[in-house]
Amino acid sequence: MKRTRILDLPTCKEGSEVQISGWVDGVRALGKIAFLSIRDGTGTVQAVAKPTTSGWDLVEELSLETAISLRGILKKDERALGGVEIKATQLSIIAPSAPDYPIQPKEHSTGFLMSQRHLWIRRPLQASLLRIRSTVILAAQNHLDSLGYVRVDAPILTPTSCEGTTTLFKLDYFEKTAYLTQSGQLYNEATAHALDRVYCFGPTFRAEKSKTRKHLTEFWMLEPEAVGLGLEENISLQESLFCALIDGVLDAHEEELERRFKRDLRALKICQRPFPRMTFAEASSRLSSLGFPLDEEGDFGAQHEEELAKDVGRPFFVHHFPAAAKAFYMAPDPLDPSLSLSLDLIAPDGGGEITGGGVRIQDPNLLARRMDEEGLNRDDFSWYTDLRKYGGVQTGGFGMGIERMVRWLTGTHHVRETIPFPRTIDRLSP
Ligand code: 4AD
Ligand code: MG
Repeated sequence: MKRTRILDLPTCKEGSEVQISGWVDGVRALGKIAFLSIRDGTGTVQAVAKPTTSGWDLVEELSLETAISLRGILKKDERALGGVEIKATQLSIIAPSAPDYPIQPKEHSTGFLMSQRHLWIRRPLQASLLRIRSTVILAAQNHLDSLGYVRVDAPILTPTSCEGTTTLFKLDYFEKTAYLTQSGQLYNEATAHALDRVYCFGPTFRAEKSKTRKHLTEFWMLEPEAVGLGLEENISLQESLFCALIDGVLDAHEEELERRFKRDLRALKICQRPFPRMTFAEASSRLSSLGFPLDEEGDFGAQHEEELAKDVGRPFFVHHFPAAAKAFYMAPDPLDPSLSLSLDLIAPDGGGEITGGGVRIQDPNLLARRMDEEGLNRDDFSWYTDLRKYGGVQTGGFGMGIERMVRWLTGTHHVRETIPFPRTIDRLSP
């Protein structure tokens, strides 16, 4: 008999015979009746076994995560999870599970659960997060594809920094030094000159010393880059992508978001274009009037983002950051070169910075000066300067941290739950 996935059980006829297989999620044996909760990675269902069930003797061998196969008669039951229940006619064990399964139905600390991440991901909420992550990635790729963007991946082993030298992971590369990529952007600029509209999507590394709910040392970044993408076009692209991701997740997971994540769906549905926007200077004076002025260096930190976001109440852009605060490649505003053509998209409810991007410097002399100012060795970037030498035109783009996006969409406390196996300053395992 063919296996039915638990997800598909509600489409089966009442009274029909079904065959499922999965892992025991809970077992309650009360003398001559046993209630089994079975999970198969697509859902969870309850089955009822009785002494007439073939394999009834095996019930006492079942423990959390025993892999079983079960055949039975489908019963619709409004009160049951998923609206169905199975009256078991036959039960067999596929693979036993040791009785000391570490994740028991009780409170565990997140630290402990993180150390058991390889097992924790079997829990329905964790599995849901991974499924939603997959939806977000697919929706992003579909959206960019619909706009003519070509996926061209950037290397992970790189000879230089892209986002400053303080968060580089360094490694031996034969007789040389290599760094794990901080961003594919510089390569995107090269590929945009070959393909017009491009994006890369891949693992990105930052030796972040920050222990916050938003920082990973390894995260996945989606980075579109296109010829002629000025600040306005960049904003439009980000708005349309952001909305496409919300739509994609609502289409596929609305019920899950509400029931399992208790996400306030209004917070997602109010994200209509255009998003509010403000310059860095406007943000700064708004923060002063809210009682959270920037310090003398003008550092715009997580708390500032949060206070502003509370005030705005929905995702918004901050643009025109001071040029000095941004990376060497960021183009100055021709009207006021102390400001840069840069922008961040910030989300409320603790979401913080979800994207960062801007317009790139086109002038080779200015680029060289900015590298000198940042203490970068021009020779290391010779290929990048070449782009300016041979018909270099203006490109722009941004990077979106996929985990930050998933975290915000689902209202998850910590970004580490939005990636299968998180890497943070204090975690490299499992
Ligand atoms: O603002 P960032 O550093 O921008 C860049 O790297 C640009 N070169 C991107 C580009 O223009 N192509 O990073 C972009 C985004 C952030 O807004 C954030 O969502 C995410 O990447 N990010 C992190 N996510 C998790 N953990 C970290 N340590 C992150 N650092 C950045
Ligand atoms: Mg940034």
